[in-house]
Amino acid sequence: MARNDIVDVVSGYVRLGKRSGSNMFGLCPFHSEKTPSFSVSPDKQIYHCFGCGKGGGVINFIMEIENLSFPEAVAFLARRANMALPEQENDRESKKRSRMLALNRDAARFFYEQLSSPAGQRARAYMDKRGIGKATATNFGLGAAPDEWGALDRAMRAKGYTSEELFEAGLIKKGRNGGWYDTFRDRLMFPVIDVRGNVIGFSGRLLGEDGPKYLNSPDTLVFNKGSNLFALNLAKKSKSGYILLSEGNIDVVSLHQAGFDSAVASLGTSLTAEQARLISRFTGEVIIAYDNDGAGQKAAQRAIGILEKLDLKVRVLQMSGAKDPDEYIQLRGPEAFRQLIEGSENQVEYRLGVIAAKYDLGVDAQKVDYLRECEDLLARLPNAAEREVYCRRVASQTGISPEVLIGEVKSRRSRLLRRTAATERSSPERQSQPVERQLRYDDPASAVAEEGLIRLLYLDGSLAAVAGLPDAAEFSSPALGHIYGVVRRRLGEHRSVSADALGGELSAEEVSLLVRILQKPETLSNSKRAMEDYINRIRQRRRAQSDSGDLMQLLEERRKELK
Ligand code: GTP
Ligand code: MN
Repeated sequence: MARNDIVDVVSGYVRLGKRSGSNMFGLCPFHSEKTPSFSVSPDKQIYHCFGCGKGGGVINFIMEIENLSFPEAVAFLARRANMALPEQENDRESKKRSRMLALNRDAARFFYEQLSSPAGQRARAYMDKRGIGKATATNFGLGAAPDEWGALDRAMRAKGYTSEELFEAGLIKKGRNGGWYDTFRDRLMFPVIDVRGNVIGFSGRLLGEDGPKYLNSPDTLVFNKGSNLFALNLAKKSKSGYILLSEGNIDVVSLHQAGFDSAVASLGTSLTAEQARLISRFTGEVIIAYDNDGAGQKAAQRAIGILEKLDLKVRVLQMSGAKDPDEYIQLRGPEAFRQLIEGSENQVEYRLGVIAAKYDLGVDAQKVDYLRECEDLLARLPNAAEREVYCRRVASQTGISPEVLIGEVKSRRSRLLRRTAATERSSPERQSQPVERQLRYDDPASAVAEEGLIRLLYLDGSLAAVAGLPDAAEFSSPALGHIYGVVRRRLGEHRSVSADALGGELSAEEVSLLVRILQKPETLSNSKRAMEDYINRIRQRRRAQSDSGDLMQLLEERRKELK
């Protein structure tokens, strides 16, 4: 990235003012501010915002501001500098990946072709029954896995792939007699396509009686269920301004067919933080359209929590009289669903509704409990206008005076704020917590030592070869452990540890954290001593913890003996 000077690149987006020390400052493009706290260091080729905590090298900057993945950002910068793409660092691995992607694409084409052949008869009949049309099938690349044991295996080997390759891609399995058999048989096939258009795996819906309703590709070199979403490749192009998050593959297909082209689903798991981050690259608002049963509503509550952490606006659809979006559209039609979206509740209304459902508001005592729970929710809303609007609504619903409720919420809120301010004062370690909530340190004292160790490795790479360094697993913070593991390994391999080089292995949040760690002061004057000190502190904290664990166990056993 030598030809993409960070000052040059950033200047395309941010007006950088005069220097202060060796840094240049400007208004941060990642959060709104009036006084510049966004700094760029030409010497270190990094940026860092003192306001929001974002930071990294030039590639991170492009990833963040252009909403691109790491390889996309590299390609973007390569184009910018008008130079050829640099050779992938790890050639063998990347060859294997592209070969697996090619195999997946060929397999998807095979399934798609089967759909219009005699072997796809059952899948066609099923699609008819569910009202999935031909254009929709083509849009999604739906396919049919024949009711046979080796159809895909044969077809792919005829194209030159080995059984070993098919196995690693999760497309075939090993039988008891040592032979191979197709993973997906007699199923309606949904290819899972990532935002770059690669076929990374499959999800197959049962057509017959035997086996699980859905079968997904296992995790492979190119596929991980928890970090991908079905149909995001299509939804990312939507102009709707929001992402519709549903549970089922069929729901997604049916929603797109009805014109709701921003529908996605997680792949048989509940929403993960990684999936939420992925969504946040493409939209600022998510509408949850989960199944209308207990499990769906519980999953919705969880998803709200995850999405809110990323500052996404969240609304929740309430579909009465239908079990899921697909059924709703089949029963009432697309127009009714559109009205549902338009009248959908934001998360405050939704949560108030959940609370209301617990109480009988005709009974005075229950009304009091209801109000207390609402006050707690309302007092936590950061926006004053929102607090007022919902106070008035709850007041009119329960017949109490709005002024009384507003006053109650106000005093509850100031109590809350005083309490948080007090805990922040009493634990200075909090100040050193990462801004990213999901990276919060469980053990801040140990984390300080862990950060120090990482900083030392940066200042003096030769320390990576010293015997007795802790394992990443000994770190109390998984994020710091991950950063440390990657940095140490790369130093051992004599590879670059610049923020840019690490962007492929660390998440954007981890790179930001690393940049902040590196800006804290550290001296090299007695680095060996400092390092030993850090290591001792990390190990002592661990020992203290496992000791107390043993103690608890001992007490527990005693208690049982006494009984
Ligand atoms: P229909 O019920 O036919 O409308 O299908 P659906 O796509 O709506 O599926 P459903 O609501 O039953 O399940 C929601 C999602 O959970 C599915 O799309 C799958 O991703 C996942 N799922 C459902 N059943 C299974 C299963 O047996 N195994 C696995 N791994 N995932 C499943
Ligand atoms: Mn469903």
